[in-house]
Amino acid sequence: MLKIAVLVSGGGTNLQAILDAIDCGQLKNTEVTTVISNRKIAYALERAEKYQIDATYLSPREFESKESYAQELIRHIDSFQVDLIVLAGFLVILDKSFIRHFRNRIINIHPSLIPSFAGEGYYGLKVHEEALKRGVKLTGATVHIVDEITDHGPILYQKAVEVYPDDTAEVLQKRVMEQAEWTLLPQAINEFDIWSKLYK
Ligand code: GRF
Repeated sequence: MLKIAVLVSGGGTNLQAILDAIDCGQLKNTEVTTVISNRKIAYALERAEKYQIDATYLSPREFESKESYAQELIRHIDSFQVDLIVLAGFLVILDKSFIRHFRNRIINIHPSLIPSFAGEGYYGLKVHEEALKRGVKLTGATVHIVDEITDHGPILYQKAVEVYPDDTAEVLQKRVMEQAEWTLLPQAINEFDIWSKLYK
């Protein structure tokens, strides 16, 4: 059984895509064991509760340092003995000690074709606003392994999505989710056995 921890900050549609893939049998032998949010009012936590999955609120604001927050995250996640950590719209930049502890076992979904529109400051709608401003005709999503630099680790999966002339950032964000993010993330989890052998 592949045990996953999913870290979230918001609506949790990517979490839902994982849960749906488990429900419909696309993801076999996989279990979301804990969902952690840095925001108390995150719909993602409600989604987890509906599935009777551990739903934990842990905010860096309640810790005196990034390191002590990381320590508590590590303690919590280790108590579930997870194999893989999925950042699904998690807006906290994790401390190096966290990355080190779970080296090559943390993946992130980013709503652009990395290295475009990626790195510090590129999150949420901002990514799509910048893509529209630059006038790219293709954007997309990327699943990558998390290392110490934001949106920088090895790229595992990418999927391109067309940009249309009258797109707004909101419209584009929705298309990227529907056509790329919600399929790429379950695929990355499904193929954990393949890529985890390459990155040990
Ligand atoms: C997604 O676009 C994800 O790529 C980005 O934040 C958004 C999270 O959406 N990093 P949701 O919470 O999964 O609905």
